[in-house]
Amino acid sequence: MMKQLSPYKNLLLSLASLALLHPTHIAAAVVPRTADCHSHHYAGPTNPSFETGDLTGWTVVSGTAFGNASVTATSSYWGGPFSQVGKQFLWGILHDGEPAVGELRSSTFRASSVMSFLVGGGYDPVNLYVGLVRENDGTLLFSQTGTNDEALIRIIWDTSAYAGQNVYLVVVDTSTVTSWGHINLDDVRTGCDALGDGGLSFNVLGQNNQPPQTHNALSTPSLYALDPIRPQFHYSPYQGWINDPCGLIQWGGKYHLMSQFNPAAPVWGPMHWSHVESADAVHWSELPVALYPPYPNNPLDTSGRYTGSALQDKDTGALQVIFTDATDTALHPDAKPEVVSSAVSSDGINFSLYSGNPIIAAPPPNSPSGFRDPKVFWDTTDSSWKMVIGSGDNNSGKVQLYQSTRSTASQLTSWEYVGVLYEGDGSTGTMWECPNFFPIDGKWVLFYGGNGLGWYEVGTYNGTTFTSEKRGLLDAGPDSYAMQWFIDDSGRNLAITWMGNWGTSKWPSRVNGWAGTQSIMRELFIRDDGGLGNKIVDEVSLLASGAAKSLGQTNVHGTVTVGSSNTARLQASIDLVASNAPAFTIELFALSAESVSLVYTFANQSLTLDTTQAGYGQAGTWSAIIAKPADNILSLDILIDRSSLEVFAGDGTVMTATVFPRYQESTDIQIVSHGGKTVFGDIVLTPLGSAWV
Ligand SMILES: *[C@@H]1O[C@H](CO)[C@@H](O)[C@H](O)[C@H]1NC(C)=O
Ligand SMILES: *[C@@H]1O[C@H](CO)[C@@H](O)[C@H](O)[C@H]1NC(C)=O
Ligand SMILES: *[C@@H]1O[C@H](CO)[C@@H](O)[C@H](O)[C@H]1NC(C)=O
Ligand SMILES: *[C@@H]1O[C@H](CO)[C@@H](O)[C@H](O)[C@H]1NC(C)=O
Ligand SMILES: *[C@@H]1O[C@H](CO)[C@@H](O)[C@H](O)[C@H]1NC(C)=O
Repeated sequence: MMKQLSPYKNLLLSLASLALLHPTHIAAAVVPRTADCHSHHYAGPTNPSFETGDLTGWTVVSGTAFGNASVTATSSYWGGPFSQVGKQFLWGILHDGEPAVGELRSSTFRASSVMSFLVGGGYDPVNLYVGLVRENDGTLLFSQTGTNDEALIRIIWDTSAYAGQNVYLVVVDTSTVTSWGHINLDDVRTGCDALGDGGLSFNVLGQNNQPPQTHNALSTPSLYALDPIRPQFHYSPYQGWINDPCGLIQWGGKYHLMSQFNPAAPVWGPMHWSHVESADAVHWSELPVALYPPYPNNPLDTSGRYTGSALQDKDTGALQVIFTDATDTALHPDAKPEVVSSAVSSDGINFSLYSGNPIIAAPPPNSPSGFRDPKVFWDTTDSSWKMVIGSGDNNSGKVQLYQSTRSTASQLTSWEYVGVLYEGDGSTGTMWECPNFFPIDGKWVLFYGGNGLGWYEVGTYNGTTFTSEKRGLLDAGPDSYAMQWFIDDSGRNLAITWMGNWGTSKWPSRVNGWAGTQSIMRELFIRDDGGLGNKIVDEVSLLASGAAKSLGQTNVHGTVTVGSSNTARLQASIDLVASNAPAFTIELFALSAESVSLVYTFANQSLTLDTTQAGYGQAGTWSAIIAKPADNILSLDILIDRSSLEVFAGDGTVMTATVFPRYQESTDIQIVSHGGKTVFGDIVLTPLGSAWV
């Protein structure tokens, strides 16, 4: 029976049987399944991993993109290791460069119930893909494109519907672009070998394993649960791309989160605003797209509604958003590339563009490098609406300040230029994006994105000019950018950051059709050292899906396994005086083959995040010095969510990272202390469930 079904139906069957077993823990229990690998197992194509060092067994069908020179034993590129299996693999750029086109075909083999392979290279489902073709009628049964990264990712196909039939693989490159115009392939496997290595099971990845969001019986939590690298309690688009959070506000009692969004593909493109709302700041439900780009039917026109902010109109109560209207000047040469526009909604769902847009038609003087991301705030120094906008000249980033003239219109559509609120010295970038400016704990905080990083400055403000007293990084980890602040009804200063940035991020989840995650809701505060601190909002406790496991006071000497989970909160307190080890390590997403390490060194109080052994994502190390707590109790509060990791230290330091494990079993949480004991006041592990309601 299973053989008659599409892979997606197999997933549904697996889900149904698991749901019966675990009716209350669907989100935690479900993993994508594939057909029984034992039922049909035949040999795959000749030279399946290119270990001959050439194209033996493969046929160049057309073009010059592929040839013997495509096969290489090169192990790394500018972004890290290729992670091929064995020595050789097919690197689609080598034979004739990026723009070359061509098609390569494997020998014919009989389809097993499952198969897998490694893919890398450009993202272009139409022009760059590895495909499986049925020999007797030429039907393309499956295809998979790359991720705009060279590194190789394991794709699994449930081929049980075609088991026993003659098939062959094609490697297709009809892309002539000069960047990411090639595709890479390695290690084709069939049968049970396709599903794992040495007793470990590969995460089941690939666009063919993703059921459509509509026209199926699954609830959103179940749908999101099926994807093994999909965050369960962080917002991500089901399909497509997101970047900056936009329009954060508590309006009508509900928290609203909008995001820069390209629904068409998991890559940046014509910007929409996706929209979710929450009654409690941590559970989300999906709303229709809030803003559409001006030319939505032309994917080549990159004009879009860029980042902006929200406010509640004090007269009408309406929800207003003010944002950058960006125009693709290659297609519209007479337009200004970036102006400020407005839209308003009376129901919090349906937004109407202001008829008089743009509300700011041109940048102020001396802003040649950009003019974007308006963030509105209520200025307590003179009780007026003001707005900061990022800009820059060729030498330094700038924050431009505007004031609402608020004459007769009830919408805030009339603004006058005040001047430069603050200008950098160039060391944090020559164009600043996503500025936010607000009073907190007797200070004013400015933060912005520059040089691909999020920076904060804490200081004073006199109504026109900001004076900085302290500068720092908003986040000590690799994957945070475009953080947006807002103040909620209870007066808390809250923020969400995009868990990505342009400089260091990889997007392996593109193989599942999506890219981008927003952080958990964070509360901001001024740290003891005068910097800007982050902590997890209290409401995160509402995400608990089961009882917390508390280890109590624990002396770790050697290795302690705390538990096994990839959707959990780990809270630990460490007695800095009673501990006598030189360092301790928290291993996350761990098992023998891979893990993320978090190392704290007592002597210099450094906390280092190490992802060099952590699956498909960005490999690197990032460090921060954690301020010594007055009571000598270091606290760590860690959120683990399938492909997301957020580490909050008690002093307000945060490290945000994306992590994409290769294996389903990579869920161990261990604490290691060598050369002495580390004394934990407590270690608490709480399973967290789905954010989707
Ligand atoms: C690859 O090299 C082998 C051995 O020299 C040769 O027989 C074969 O024709 C070459 N294949 C292609 C596609 O050039
Ligand atoms: C959204 O608002 C506009 C303008 O008020 C209105 O014309 C339109 O019908 C509304 N759409 C929906 C779906 O409510
Ligand atoms: C900024 O640099 C660009 C390219 O170097 C140059 O064309 C432009 O005139 C410069 N603008 C200013 C304001 O210096
Ligand atoms: C604010 O400070 C700036 C810089 O010191 C100064 O030029 C400006 O006049 C001050 N504005 C007010 C309203 O005091
Ligand atoms: C802290 O000490 C450890 C162990 O000696 C060292 O590896 C690390 O680089 C140091 N970190 C900083 C920030 O000095």
